[in-house]
Amino acid sequence: MPSMAQNGRVTTDFKQSNQAHNSNAFARREEIRQQRESLPIASVKERLIEEVKKHDVLIIVGETGSGKTTQIPQFLFSAGFCREGKSVGITQPRRVAAVTVAKRVAEECGVELGQKVGYSIRFDDRTSGVTRIKYMTDGLLLREALLDPYLSRYSVVIVDEAHERTVHTDVLLGLLKNVQKKFPPLKLIIMSASLDARVFSEYFGGARAVHIQGRQHPVDILYTLYPEKDYVDAALVTIFQIHLEERHGDILVFLTGQEEIEAVERLVQERLRQLPESNRKLVTVPIFSSLPSEQQMRVFMPAPDGHHVDSHIQVVLATNIAETSVTIPGIKFVIDPGFVKARSYDPAKGMESLIIIPTSKAQALQRSGRAGREGPGKCFRLYPESEFEKLEDSTKPEIKRCNLANVILQLKALGVDDIFGFDFIEKPSRAAIVKSLEHLFLLGALTDDCKLSDPVGHQMARLPLDPIYSKALILASQFNCLEEMLITVAMLSVDSVFYAPREKLDESRTAAKCFASPDGDHITLINVYRAAEDLLEKRKWVPHTERNEKIFKAKSEKIFKRWCKENFINGRSVRHARDIHSQIRGHVEQMGLRITSCGDDMLQFRRCLAASFFINAALKQPEGNYRAFGTGQVVQIHPSSVLFQSKVECVVFNEMVQTTNKYIRNVTRIEYMWLTELAPHYYTMQS
Ligand code: CDP
Ligand code: MG
Repeated sequence: MPSMAQNGRVTTDFKQSNQAHNSNAFARREEIRQQRESLPIASVKERLIEEVKKHDVLIIVGETGSGKTTQIPQFLFSAGFCREGKSVGITQPRRVAAVTVAKRVAEECGVELGQKVGYSIRFDDRTSGVTRIKYMTDGLLLREALLDPYLSRYSVVIVDEAHERTVHTDVLLGLLKNVQKKFPPLKLIIMSASLDARVFSEYFGGARAVHIQGRQHPVDILYTLYPEKDYVDAALVTIFQIHLEERHGDILVFLTGQEEIEAVERLVQERLRQLPESNRKLVTVPIFSSLPSEQQMRVFMPAPDGHHVDSHIQVVLATNIAETSVTIPGIKFVIDPGFVKARSYDPAKGMESLIIIPTSKAQALQRSGRAGREGPGKCFRLYPESEFEKLEDSTKPEIKRCNLANVILQLKALGVDDIFGFDFIEKPSRAAIVKSLEHLFLLGALTDDCKLSDPVGHQMARLPLDPIYSKALILASQFNCLEEMLITVAMLSVDSVFYAPREKLDESRTAAKCFASPDGDHITLINVYRAAEDLLEKRKWVPHTERNEKIFKAKSEKIFKRWCKENFINGRSVRHARDIHSQIRGHVEQMGLRITSCGDDMLQFRRCLAASFFINAALKQPEGNYRAFGTGQVVQIHPSSVLFQSKVECVVFNEMVQTTNKYIRNVTRIEYMWLTELAPHYYTMQS
């Protein structure tokens, strides 16, 4: 009987695939077990556990890839540190690291993510009541301290990647030092990849430091003969040189951000197409912080998309996230252009900007080290050797080069009123604290005597956003345009919504025009968001059944992808913005803010932008440039703005970037008169 035969065959197939699945799963478990056992840290497990038991503060220094982040929390779990419902919390400076490591550790433990092992980062929480090993960003643990100042749910807090010295790590160390005073003290472990543990040890009163021996193979360092004019181009040439000459081993390229990574991805694809078929066995894998989490794990997989690892070279295009936060297996070649995107703050002007600066020597060494994890490797530094000598020894802590408004707001919410007296591991300058206090005062977050204002200051501290954006949301509920502001803030929180490939500049600019608003970039961003929302959500052809839902999803995804391509829109960024949007919406709903839309009344929305971003307003100068009111700086509208080369008189903006010129980005046209009307405390003060 045909149906029997068919049934029979289906059953056998199923059995076979099930068996295959079981043996695959078994092989994977075995592989993981072996990998774990061969890590340098495995041989010192018992000694480490003893050290943690003996010391309330312990500093652990170990080379990247020795197994600190993935193994130590598991050691502590097995040693009974998670009894009575307590957890081990591990902070990471970067979202991607928290997510990818948690996934890996869940797999190592053979549990589902979000059960025993989970992660929690801003706008994404994968933990539950049974989570005992929790990876999170340093910023997130700071937020938790707002609700639970003694961090009482943790038995051990591990501050990982402390050498990165992010502003959140520094503040967290200060808070933890205070929490330590309570009895019984919270156990604290500080982990760092830099050999110099002194600064942490001294800060914690001579705390014990242990070093874990790593395993490092020799790495050949190659320099260019002359400085490179265009490091992106130089990186591209080097990728293909390695691909065509060396033929085996994966490549890791350090770039400065999403935009650059995506540009290189496209350029590599293009050049590949010009090569003969047999030379095209190369795949690019991007990794940066705002990459959707399902794509972040790709770097840990052997060549993706069904390609076999032996036949394809992987080119991992990473930000400095791959320096120490995540260890990518299989890397033999490192390409290091020698640059990093960093925050920079000018307290005199109160202006924070993102700039691309040379790495420090310590960073360059970490980067080259990535090539020698599994065997001898090579590192191509895209600058002459003489330049290396000129680099700073180590990177300046972020707290010394950022706007402190956010941190101060949180410290105030934690009851730390005397910011100048706070025991920072390294004190920010007095000028920077004063300027940031002034900034918060102007936003209405502080009272005359520098306390958090009620309700605005408290509301702002509750939102996980830059204070200026939190204030914009609060104001928008009064201006009846919170719908629009939620979208705006979500879109401003992601990188580059539009992309403009060099070779298709005109085409991409024409495409962008369909969304452009003559009023500026904020409304343009709303237009893009709403158009994407329409594609992804509008159900024109209901009925609403499970099957329809599936078909609809697949279909709309396809349409969305095509639409992104045709319009030069970065689908990843728009999806990320949609995620952020739903999270912040949840927060403002909880706070009881009224979510209404101003409909077509964009005048109302622009007035709200003026009221929110008045600190960043600029006026056109006779010679065509703009002058920022607050700082007096001469700036230009960035070429990516819809107001580039327009003749508008007065604008507000969100971002300043400095390349050869000072550019302002995310710009909207306003009336000068609104500023004196809506921010009289600032604009009468100025004149
Ligand atoms: O923290 P540390 O740099 O000392 O090492 P780790 O992050 O614990 O990594 C230990 C090992 O786990 C490395 O060999 C990584 O390649 C591997 N790993 C992985 O395969 N997949 C991940 N998602 C994370 C780590
Ligand atoms: Mg680590």
